[in-house]
Amino acid sequence: MTASTEVALGPQHIAGCFALSQAAGWNQNEADWRLMLDIGRGWGIALADGTLVATTLVLPYGDFAWISMVLVHSAHRRLGHASRLLRLAIADLRGRDLTPVLDATPAGREVYRQEGFRDTWTFKRFHKSGSAPVFRAPLHQEETGPDADLALDREAFGADRARLLRALRQRLPQAALSLPNGFVLGRDGREARQIGPLVARDEETAMHLLQSALAAVPAPLYVDAADHAPNVQQWLEARGFAFQRPFTRMIHGGGRAPGNERLVYLVAGPELG
Ligand SMILES: CC(C)(COP(=O)(O)OP(=O)(O)OC[C@H]1O[C@@H](n2cnc3c(N)ncnc32)[C@H](O)[C@@H]1OP(=O)(O)O)[C@@H](O)C(=O)NCCC(=O)NCCS
Repeated sequence: MTASTEVALGPQHIAGCFALSQAAGWNQNEADWRLMLDIGRGWGIALADGTLVATTLVLPYGDFAWISMVLVHSAHRRLGHASRLLRLAIADLRGRDLTPVLDATPAGREVYRQEGFRDTWTFKRFHKSGSAPVFRAPLHQEETGPDADLALDREAFGADRARLLRALRQRLPQAALSLPNGFVLGRDGREARQIGPLVARDEETAMHLLQSALAAVPAPLYVDAADHAPNVQQWLEARGFAFQRPFTRMIHGGGRAPGNERLVYLVAGPELG
């Protein structure tokens, strides 16, 4: 087996982190890695020549924390790297009284179950290829501001993530819209833009926000849509969005996921919550 060492990730690792997520076909760009390492911290496994072959990040949000970017290079899988970094992350979070939460791919879910994570609710990733803006903007209702978004997001997500929401607002301002009963944000990515989070008190507001964002931002696009809002998923599929993969929100030690998932229509992304 090739010699490898654990490293604490810093700004000097961003290029290596990006190379790893790009090799896996993931959508994060360097700005995403920078934002996540700014909000949280992370660990990696590096080969003797310094090449990063595995990563895991933690993003603290209130009394829980997101485990993010659990990624192992395809040539170095099934060697225990993910489990090793995951245990490090869990110990770090438990040492700070933070409950680990994450969104799992089917492959990741097998690793997480063995480390004590249990399933909560689920969502699906949809992709729209091409480059055309295909939606006409609906008439705007009365707009509110980012402060109202923070309160609603706290209720939906279960913690204050003001820093993240402020950063996303800068990343794709044309996607952002705040209404009295909901808000939507978006961001650029390596291969597609992502719309989300989309949080709303009712489905009518959610559809209005979704249509506004899609009118403002052309494909290629990703959205991660909650399974408890099947009408939104069907609407997306009817407009050419293709199902890509399922995700399961998991919590360490079991119990309910934080927040009120009924308010969540699109998650920010599995790496952000
Ligand atoms: C999922 C992933 C991180 C696992 O990394 P890894 O270093 O290979 O995992 P480990 O070696 O620590 O696996 C520990 C155990 O988990 C289970 N496991 C790991 N990968 C699995 C898979 N693809 N399918 C089923 N079980 C799996 C096995 O029981 C494994 O033990 P074993 O190898 O002795 O059978 C890696 O496959 C990966 O990067 N995949 C693509 C990205 C991804 O989906 N990341 C998860 C994001 S939520």
